[in-house]
Amino acid sequence: MARILTGIQSSGRQHLGNILGAILPAIELANEPSNDAYLFIADLHSLTTVKDATARRENLLTTAAAWLACGLDVNKVVFYAQSDLPECTELTWYLNCFTPFPMLANAHSFKDKAAKLADVNAGLFDYPVLMASDILLYDADIVPVGKDQKQHLEMTRDIAKALNHQTGQPVLVVPEPRIDSSVMTIPGIDGKKMSKSYGNVIDIFLPEKQLKNQVMSINTDSKTLDEVKDPDSCTVVQLYALLATADDLAEMQANYRSGGYGYGHAKKALLDLLLSRFADERKRFDHFMANPEAVHAALKVGADRARPVAKATLARVREALGY
Ligand code: ADP
Ligand code: TRP
Repeated sequence: MARILTGIQSSGRQHLGNILGAILPAIELANEPSNDAYLFIADLHSLTTVKDATARRENLLTTAAAWLACGLDVNKVVFYAQSDLPECTELTWYLNCFTPFPMLANAHSFKDKAAKLADVNAGLFDYPVLMASDILLYDADIVPVGKDQKQHLEMTRDIAKALNHQTGQPVLVVPEPRIDSSVMTIPGIDGKKMSKSYGNVIDIFLPEKQLKNQVMSINTDSKTLDEVKDPDSCTVVQLYALLATADDLAEMQANYRSGGYGYGHAKKALLDLLLSRFADERKRFDHFMANPEAVHAALKVGADRARPVAKATLARVREALGY
């Protein structure tokens, strides 16, 4: 049984791009019976950028609620908040002392910001080591990540090997990255990649009226109702295609090509599809947001399962280092 582990940034409300591009595939992978899956919310990493306590609590709650609402089963997946296991920060210190300074100075995540060094805190510089600690603490075999995280995984492997080499013992499991380059990019309402930072999201957890406003504001060209339209270049169709049956999609495409079918009609069809496809998820999300204690209880189940593993790794490391 392979232990699969990955971290989730707690960057706030999860949009359709996060759900289709990250949450649902991760839950599917975690549910494979041959996998022993660990999924955690990286809320210690968030302190490198988010300093406000209220925002942090809110982000943890909405992120965890979205994952739970999308069907994450805490009996199958070890699901926890990084900050509930302070063993991670202790291991980070030991790993820091096996991490060459130039390795961190070379990290893309740091180099991107190095032009304005005054804005860089030591936590941001050390981000890859905290990430290595997340992975090594739980003896992860496989770490599914996006391309942008590949370098961090290489560092994790180097740090683990350096500690193992120094102590002469296989104290830490050296993990393998799993980079999925086939993940599709979900377009936002302006046709560019959907992202929180572009303000172009579709948030399926919004109340119906607000969700409708988002869908109705998807950019289209200005063809009139009667004109023939191109389904292939239309964001509404692209979004519809992600969720519709083949027959429903073909019908919409035919309607575009025949004319007499307006963008308003297509948007209404997309809205109805979102509401029906995600009806259960929306209900569960509302339930969790109204009952934050249920979310915290779910995270505690995961933390209680993760803790013995973390403690065992830390004990091995401390022993091997002479503490
Ligand atoms: P955002 O761009 O909104 O800040 P993140 O960078 O926090 O989103 O991404 C969290 C996860 O969601 C990552 O695994 C990322 O690959 C996935 N993701 C984000 N936006 C999209 C998108 N538009 N299409 C597909 N996957 C996405
Ligand atoms: N750095 C990752 C990201 O930005 C999140 C993360 C933190 C992570 N710790 C991890 C991912 C451990 C995989 C394993 O997406």
